[in-house]
Amino acid sequence: MIPENSGPAAVIVLAAGAGTRMKSRTPKILHEIGGRSMVGHALLAARSIDPRQLAIVVRHERDLVARHLSELDPAAVIVDQDEVPGTGRAVEVALQALDAGQELAGTVVVTYGDVPLLSGQLLAELVATHEHEANAVTVLTAVLDDATGYGRILRGDDGTVTGIVEHKDASDAERLIREVNSGIYAFDAAVLRDALTHVTTENSQGEKYLTDVLGLARQAGGRVAAVVTADRWQVEGANDRVQLSALGAELNRRTVEAWMRSGVTVVDPATTWIDSSVTLDEDVRILPNTQLHGTTRVARDAVVGPDTTLTDVTIGEGAKVVRTHGSGASIGAGAAVGPFTYLRPGTVLGETGKIGAFYETKNVIIGRGSKLSHLGYAGDAEIGEDTNIGCGNITANYDGEKKHRTVIGSGVRTGSNTVFVAPVTVGDGAYSGAGAVIRKDVPAGALALSVAAQQNTEGWVPANRPGTRSAELAQAATTDSSSTPASTEEGNQP
Ligand code: UD1
Ligand code: MG
Repeated sequence: MIPENSGPAAVIVLAAGAGTRMKSRTPKILHEIGGRSMVGHALLAARSIDPRQLAIVVRHERDLVARHLSELDPAAVIVDQDEVPGTGRAVEVALQALDAGQELAGTVVVTYGDVPLLSGQLLAELVATHEHEANAVTVLTAVLDDATGYGRILRGDDGTVTGIVEHKDASDAERLIREVNSGIYAFDAAVLRDALTHVTTENSQGEKYLTDVLGLARQAGGRVAAVVTADRWQVEGANDRVQLSALGAELNRRTVEAWMRSGVTVVDPATTWIDSSVTLDEDVRILPNTQLHGTTRVARDAVVGPDTTLTDVTIGEGAKVVRTHGSGASIGAGAAVGPFTYLRPGTVLGETGKIGAFYETKNVIIGRGSKLSHLGYAGDAEIGEDTNIGCGNITANYDGEKKHRTVIGSGVRTGSNTVFVAPVTVGDGAYSGAGAVIRKDVPAGALALSVAAQQNTEGWVPANRPGTRSAELAQAATTDSSSTPASTEEGNQP
């Protein structure tokens, strides 16, 4: 029978640690970089090598972590570590859980939930080397300038790996070793199972060290080897928020570089932040100080930025989005948004449409070619095609209790400062006058005016605001007509 997954028998992700140095109510592995939790990155790398089973070991903040994991990867087996501390114990309980159905055979990979830059590619390379060399254990290592705190890789005179010594247990001479244990390994399942029964807690930390398995495997006659990576970021964990931000910046640098290599122009990589889950087409241009988050997708030839933050926004071909803050919106091909525009969830702008300066939109479907050019709010509304919404228009959608819909047809022209008191419907081709308050439906083709007649009380200012600059100017204008030609009959002549 051909197994449905071609990868290793299992990946075990270790995530039971407390993460106290984060100083956070959020469990360490739930902290995010690149728009995804650290453990989310770890699970994606693990899944990418197609393991037959995936287990994740939890203990600290167990319920919060478990809930997050079952959302991310419902098929992952969540294993609870008991009170026996150490990475060796963590792997032991995972192996027992995975063995419960049928004893695992073949390769078992161990990774950490707090090492977010590890790529599936490097993991695959580790597994390939391990299986090709028929090793008992293959450990991923890196050579660091400062190896303080890490387990050190011990090698014999011939260069073969003989074991790992933890920093706290190492001699002065061993502490000079700069090749470190990443904590990521490929094991032969049978070797691992057997060795773990011999691992004790007799060390400076009173923990069951997974690292002891290497020495034990060798003593049992197995081959132990290392894959050395030159890319230290891929084996780096985040223990505090300083490391978290450094890893986040490096992840972003890699993401931005990858997009540039695939044909996206990024004018200023240093101020461009792109989540791992964003997708961009060729010939997209991203201007400085732009953040693209979540499931944001940008189609060919669109220009985004500068100073734009978008979360879960879809942008069509050739659209332009300038100085905009948006989430959950969809912008049609050739449309224009911004500057200073706030797009809230449910905003759908049709092709070649426009949402201009100082507009807020929410839950509104705007047809092809329609324009909301300046200063206003459109919420819970539907606007047809080729409609022009005048400056300062507002949908008054909330009666203090409930939200109501405004429906505006196609080819509509609304005057400045029109207010639509929802629920209300405006027919195709209708017009509204400046300042209209639309409380009743407007039939197609009608002109809606709702303003009371203007009243001028002559001489009111000089009489009620005597001594003010306004009163002075008003007096001068009414007594000496030559000083303000616009107010005179002659002044209005061409
Ligand atoms: C471990 C390694 C060390 C290596 C380093 C790399 C051991 C004994 N040492 O050290 O050689 O250089 O990682 O970062 O393995 N965890 C559990 N259960 C536990 C303890 C830890 O699941 O009881 C998890 C943690 O959540 C973490 C990982 O294992 O993801 C490593 O734990 P940590 O305490 O950071 O290990 P180190 O002591 O740094
Ligand atoms: Mg430790």
